[in-house]
Amino acid sequence: MKRFKHAEAYHIMYLISPNFPEIAQPNIEFKTFPDGDSYVRIQSLAACKGKDVSLFHRLYPDQNGAIFQAILLLNVLKKGGVKPVLVSPYLPYSRQDKIFLEGEALSAEILCGLLANAGAKKLVTLDCHFLKKEGEFVYGGLKIENISANRLLIEHAKSKLGAEALEIISPDEGANYLVSGFGGKSMKKVRGEYEKGKEAYRTVASMERSFEVKGKNVLIIDDMISTGSTMIKAVENVRKGGAKKVLCAATHGFFLKDSLAKLKAMSDGVFTTNSIPNPVAEVDVRLLLKKYLE
Ligand code: R5P
Repeated sequence: MKRFKHAEAYHIMYLISPNFPEIAQPNIEFKTFPDGDSYVRIQSLAACKGKDVSLFHRLYPDQNGAIFQAILLLNVLKKGGVKPVLVSPYLPYSRQDKIFLEGEALSAEILCGLLANAGAKKLVTLDCHFLKKEGEFVYGGLKIENISANRLLIEHAKSKLGAEALEIISPDEGANYLVSGFGGKSMKKVRGEYEKGKEAYRTVASMERSFEVKGKNVLIIDDMISTGSTMIKAVENVRKGGAKKVLCAATHGFFLKDSLAKLKAMSDGVFTTNSIPNPVAEVDVRLLLKKYLE
């Protein structure tokens, strides 16, 4: 059980959601009403008053339910006179930060606005898709601290390969910030139109590479592996180019459909952080959230 060293001395209070038990023993109650509505309770609300409160709550899986729980919790705290830092390692809807077709919702901005209005002092998150660099930002009225998992993912890959040299690559230019500080290069990905049907998904139309990978060990690193299409295309590309060992890493691993099995079969290793629990979550986000865990 995690013990917080400075909590008492510095008037810090940690609220831990049942969906983030890796941080510490949860101290928030979640239930569901018989019709499926969400019930939340912060038993220690009174003890939060006058303290710096950090609320650890995942916003995925079940993103719509988890977002609503966050809004309920933030409102309870707001009514209690408390403005917490919300620590959620993955921010859902972060990829809908642009309007592709007229009439679409700018979901990323709307969600940030909801969290700000509900009372979040700041959101602490990891490799937020639309920010594309580390640091503090304001988006949709919400202050966001974006922390990158790139260093830890790269160190983890190196620990797997031992002394062998490693070429670090991102599958698209959007993820270049993950690799640029490590001499990494980026491929160029072009998305197609939305596919027909109920799923709002734009296929990966092409992926091009303008550098050599022949005979090299390659780490392909992205902010997320969702359906896996991007990573699968990237692995196919470097395999065709004659790469030796190929490792795949991402901060957030959803591994929808059968993408994890496919990636395991075609690469020499796949891993992510545990921002989203999954079978290859090998890098612990607590190492990145240290400053909020003392
Ligand atoms: C998009 O540009 C992101 O950085 C990821 O490359 C993308 O979201 C991964 O999605 P998928 O696994 O579905 O290709």
